[in-house]
Amino acid sequence: MRVGFVGWRGMVGSVLMERMLAENGFSGLESYFFSTSNVSGKGPDVGEGETVLQDAFDLKALAEMEVILTCQGGGYTTEIYGKLRESGWSGYWIDAASTLRMEEEARIVLDPVNRPIIDDALAAGIKTYAGGNCTVSLMLMALAGLFKADLVEWLTSMTYQSASGAGAANMQELAAQMAVIGDYARPVLDDPAATALDLDRRVTEALGSDSLPVSNFGVPLAASLIPWIDRPVDKGQTREEWKGIAETNRILGTKREIPIDGICVRVGAMRCHSQGFTIKLKKDVPLDEITEIIGSANDWVEVIDNKKEDTLKRLSPAAVSGTLKVPVGRIRKMLIGDDYLTAFSVGDQLLWGAAEPLHRMLRILRDYLGR
Ligand code: HSE
Repeated sequence: MRVGFVGWRGMVGSVLMERMLAENGFSGLESYFFSTSNVSGKGPDVGEGETVLQDAFDLKALAEMEVILTCQGGGYTTEIYGKLRESGWSGYWIDAASTLRMEEEARIVLDPVNRPIIDDALAAGIKTYAGGNCTVSLMLMALAGLFKADLVEWLTSMTYQSASGAGAANMQELAAQMAVIGDYARPVLDDPAATALDLDRRVTEALGSDSLPVSNFGVPLAASLIPWIDRPVDKGQTREEWKGIAETNRILGTKREIPIDGICVRVGAMRCHSQGFTIKLKKDVPLDEITEIIGSANDWVEVIDNKKEDTLKRLSPAAVSGTLKVPVGRIRKMLIGDDYLTAFSVGDQLLWGAAEPLHRMLRILRDYLGR
């Protein structure tokens, strides 16, 4: 199978490469690496010898591929995808960007949740597959059991999204902000007579200082938060919030739309998105059954006991970062009523939120084509 990789050097692309290498995903593939900036440069050696970078804007070279997997971003997809299809190319396009997710000719892939939809699409000759929004994919990995059991009447998701969702430069900016705050705080931390209010004054001073880098986020994120992600859309929502209802229903292929809404918030985590859910159940199901339904939905979801020690140890970005685990905890019936459930989940935004569904789609495609 001739596969062209575009955007493999960026953050999501690098995580994808790591996953492919870890799972021996390149073996037997004819892999070609494309570049938008370093054509003819040295490409990565993924076990089949040295490679030479091809031009990511060369439609002819792209058209040689049976599969193109791109993590290059929406701008690239917008520029190239239509032209390539118009030129008659009928290969498989697998894309991390949001550009094509809602197109008729495309499907959003998250196989532990919607494998039947993917299989149907392949059989029907669908050739365009997009990874979902990270928050949506991570919510679905966590709550897949409830959706599958048709228990969700509606849900809200209040998010705690990491810097990685905004991009690599934003992760660097977050850590740089922390460093500036640390520098401001240091003399007070070193002074045994200083109080917490002295410390707070220094931190507040750092947040307002010109030395705090804010060119990516626009404002401080460290020691603060940003309750706005992406651009505004209709009805006061942000686009990130709109994706919750639009993409979830599309991934699940629901006949009647499940209402989903919430507020998306950027917090100072590096690469794990967390979410707090309020779930209106279609009926009152006992908590032990609910726990079983959630915990048995896929190989990665883990139910965390609603106890302080377990929660602190296992339900946080610090505990999950860099892993494929999707812990769901704080599961309980709400005081509002027995058909209202609350839960909290954490997942790695770069793995299940971005690279992993694409890496798996490539494998599914390979099996489908019998390669
Ligand atoms: N839009 C997401 C975020 C990135 O800003 O966190 C992943 O889809």
